[in-house]
Amino acid sequence: MTIQSMPVVGLEGVVAAETLLSHVDGEKGELVIAGARVADLAFAESFEAVTARLWSLASGTAHDAADLARDLGRARLDAHARMPAIFAVTDGMPIVDGFRAAAAAIHQHGTTRPEVALLGAMPVIAAGLVRRANGLDLVRPDPGLGQAADLLRMLRGEAATDSETAALNAYLITVSDHGMNASTFAGRVVASTGADLFMAVTAAYCALSGPLHGGAPEPVLNMLDDIGSVDRIESWIDDALKRGERLMGFGHRIYRVRDPRADVLKAAVEKLDRAGRDLGLAARVETYARKALATHKPDRKLDTNVEFYTAILLDALQIPRQAFTPVFAAARTAGWIGHAMEQQRKGRLLRPASVYIGDMPA
Ligand code: ACO
Repeated sequence: MTIQSMPVVGLEGVVAAETLLSHVDGEKGELVIAGARVADLAFAESFEAVTARLWSLASGTAHDAADLARDLGRARLDAHARMPAIFAVTDGMPIVDGFRAAAAAIHQHGTTRPEVALLGAMPVIAAGLVRRANGLDLVRPDPGLGQAADLLRMLRGEAATDSETAALNAYLITVSDHGMNASTFAGRVVASTGADLFMAVTAAYCALSGPLHGGAPEPVLNMLDDIGSVDRIESWIDDALKRGERLMGFGHRIYRVRDPRADVLKAAVEKLDRAGRDLGLAARVETYARKALATHKPDRKLDTNVEFYTAILLDALQIPRQAFTPVFAAARTAGWIGHAMEQQRKGRLLRPASVYIGDMPA
C-alpha cells in the first residue's frame, strides 16, 4: 500500500476545509474564534456579537450584532408559537432526542432568515422541553433579552441574576465554534451536498449527541455524584480505568495539553455569586484523574477537556443534566451555521474515499 492510499483511521490530521471561523492549536492549548482568543472574548462580548462576527466571516456579508440580537428575539417568539405543534412530535421522548426532533421540525417557515430562525429557536426548544418534562407551563420569550438571559429565564420562569447571565453568556461564546470537530464536520458534509441549513444543523446535532463529543457533561456529573467524597476519589477512578472505561471530561483528539476552554469555564464558575456543587471536590477529582491518566496512558497526553467544567457550570446554573447537550447545541449552532454557510459559499462536495478490505468476486 502506498502512503497516499493508506487510510487515516478517524481522519486524524486530515484537512477537510479551509475556514475563517476558528483555529485550534492542540500543542499550545490555544483556541482562536473569529480572530480573537477565547479567553479574551468570553467575558468581553455578547454571544450575539460573537455570532455576528462568525457569520460575517462565513458569508462575506456584514452581520450587525444589535440587528442580530433584535432578530433573534423575534425568532424566539416565532419558535414559541410553534411549540405546541412540536410537542405533538416530541412528547414521550427523552429531552436529548426530543431536541433532535424539534430542531428538525423547526424547518423553514415564514420570512425569517433560516440562520436566525434556527439559532433563535434553540433556547426556546431546550427550555420548552425541560419545562414540559417537568409538567410546567411554557414561559413566553422576552425578545428584549439576549439569548443567555432569555434561556435561563425561560427555563426557570424567573429572571436570572447578572452573574448567572454573564456565566451562561461566557459558556455560549466559549463553545460557539471549535475547528473541524465531529459535529461541525457532519454539518459541513451535509451542507456540501447542497442541502439547506436546517438539514446541516440537524445532522450536526446528531453527531454532537454522542458521549465522545457533546454528550459527555451528563456522565461527568454522574461521576462526580458517584464519587461523592474525597476519600472515594482514588478508588473510583482507579477502578473505572481498570474496567477499561474512559473518564468523561478528559482527553481530546486535538489538545495535547489542557483544553483552554476548561480554564474559561472554571473562571465562569468562580465568578458566580451562588456556588453550585463542591468545587473543592471537583478540583481534587480533576487533579487525581490527570495523574491517573498519565500513568494509565503514558504515551498519550490526556488532560482536562471542556466538558468537565461545562458540567459543573451548567449544574451551578441549575440547568438539568438531561438538557446539557441541547444547551451545548444552542451555542454551537452559531458555529455550525457559519461552517455550513462557508461550505456552501466556497466548498466542494465532501466525498472521501475508503479502502475496500473485503473479498473480490472471482
Ligand atoms: N479516559 C481513559 N482513557 C482514555 C480517555 C479517557 N478520557 N481518552 C482517551 N483514552 C485512551 C483511549 O482509550 C485510547 O486507549 P487505547 O489506545 O488503549 O485504545 C488512548 O487513550 C488514545 O485515545 P484515542 O481514542 O485515540 O483518543 P481520540 O482522539 O480518538 O478520542 C476523545 C478523543 C473521544 C475525546 C477521548 O479522549 C474520550 O473518549 N474522552 C472521554 C469523553 C469526553 O470527555 N468527550 C468530550 C470531548 S470534548 C468535546 O467533544 C466537546
